[in-house]
This record gives sequence, structure tokens and C-alpha cells, in this order.
Amino acid sequence: MRRAGKITAAARALAGEMVKPGVTTRQIDQAVFHFIRSQDATPSFLHYNGYPASVCVSVNDEIIHGIPGKRVLQEGDIVSVDVGAYIGGFHGDCAATYPCGKVSEEALRLIRVTQQSFFEGLKFAREGYRLSDISAAVQAYVEKNGLSVVREYVGHGIGHNMHEPPEIPNYGNPGHGPRLLRGMTIAVEPMVNAGTVSIIQMADGWTVKTADGKNAAHYENTILITPGDPELLTDPAGSLV
Ligand code: MF3
Ligand code: CO
Repeated sequence: MRRAGKITAAARALAGEMVKPGVTTRQIDQAVFHFIRSQDATPSFLHYNGYPASVCVSVNDEIIHGIPGKRVLQEGDIVSVDVGAYIGGFHGDCAATYPCGKVSEEALRLIRVTQQSFFEGLKFAREGYRLSDISAAVQAYVEKNGLSVVREYVGHGIGHNMHEPPEIPNYGNPGHGPRLLRGMTIAVEPMVNAGTVSIIQMADGWTVKTADGKNAAHYENTILITPGDPELLTDPAGSLV
């Protein structure tokens, strides 16, 4: 899980560095594909339920599961990148939203609140808490900041499979669900809308957008529950070596 997490986090960082005006979403996908293969890992997303790429690249009002293609990134866009890598029988999974060039103050705030909501949830990713304590902390922080938490998509257990039980909603009352125990590996991934909570599913069968056309952001890490502080297996500060 640590090896998979490190490669996945490095792939996210690579994708994030490529978010610049003039770059196509397909270029990001190709770079990430080659990077993951160069690490002797396999892109977890490629061919998952028929998904055609190694990353999801979701721009502006696209919340998740944007399919890379000819789209050219523009100054002012916000770009969510989601990636997974599989090695030694285990998966890593992580995501983040990056500004493309100079973006509005409002867009930056959406990105920051979404990221911080993950870290608010992380405070409860410890033995002695229950699963929905994470969910409730994410929701409380997002809503305190006047933004909306997507309901239809959730975080998940992760290990030999990318998606394992339990589901981890980004909303709910505290004190419910399984008790957290050392050795559990989970992916917590708030998806946050700047406007209303409603989403729409695109005809490509994958892309999910905000119904009101306002921006959305996404932030995800794979986490190991330990006897002490949780370990970020896709540590955004980590390096590959
Ligand atoms: N990365 C998503 C998640 O965080 C899953 C992507 S679905 C795929 O759970 F088809 F794109 F792989
Ligand atoms: Co995930």
C-alpha cells in the first residue's frame, strides 16, 4: 500500500505541474500513463468499468470523472486530477484540484476549503472514532464555509481493489458506522460545489457536472489507520525516493 501510494501521489504531482494554459487534458493523461508504467505499476483507472484513460481530468463545473481529450486548458480554469496506481497487488488513489494560471479569488477559496475539509475529516481517522465521524467533520467544515458537499459519490475502503467497503460519505451525523481500527486503509475524497448541491450526469457515461454550472473541486488521499496519527499513503508532501 505504501509503494502504491507513493507512486500515485507522485503521479498526481506530475499532473498538477502540467496544469497550465495551452496544455490538453490528453497530454496530462499520457504523461501520467507513462510515469506510472515507468514505476512498474499499472494505472488503476485504465479500463476500470470501461473507463478509457489513466486519470480523470475534470475542469471547472465538471466535478469528477472527466475523460481526458482534446480540451485545451485556459487561464482561470480550475482542474481536478484524480489518479490511481496498482503495484504488488495493491492500489493507491488520490485527487486534487489545481488552478490553471491566475484564477479568481472565489475559485481559490473553493480549492482551499475542499482541501481543508479533507484534513478536518483526517482528524477523526483514528482508533476510537467511528467512520461517520470523518464524514460529519468534512460536511461541517464545507457547509460552515457556505459550500455544498456532493452526496451521490463517496469515498471508500481501498486495498487489493480500488473500491472496497465501507462507503465513506462526505456528510452525515457522527457516531455511526464501523469503528476505525489500525491497519484499515481508506480513501477519503470530498467533492465540493461552489453553488448548489445538485449534479448532472453527462451523456458520455462518465463526466459528472454541477447542475448550476458553477465550479466544483475534489481532494482525496489514501489513508492508513494506525495506533497513533493516521498515515497519508498518498502524502502530497512526499517524494518517490
Ligand atoms: N478515482 C475515483 C475514486 O476516487 C474512481 C475513478 S473511476 C474510474 O474513487 F473509472 F475513472 F477509474
Ligand atoms: Co477514490
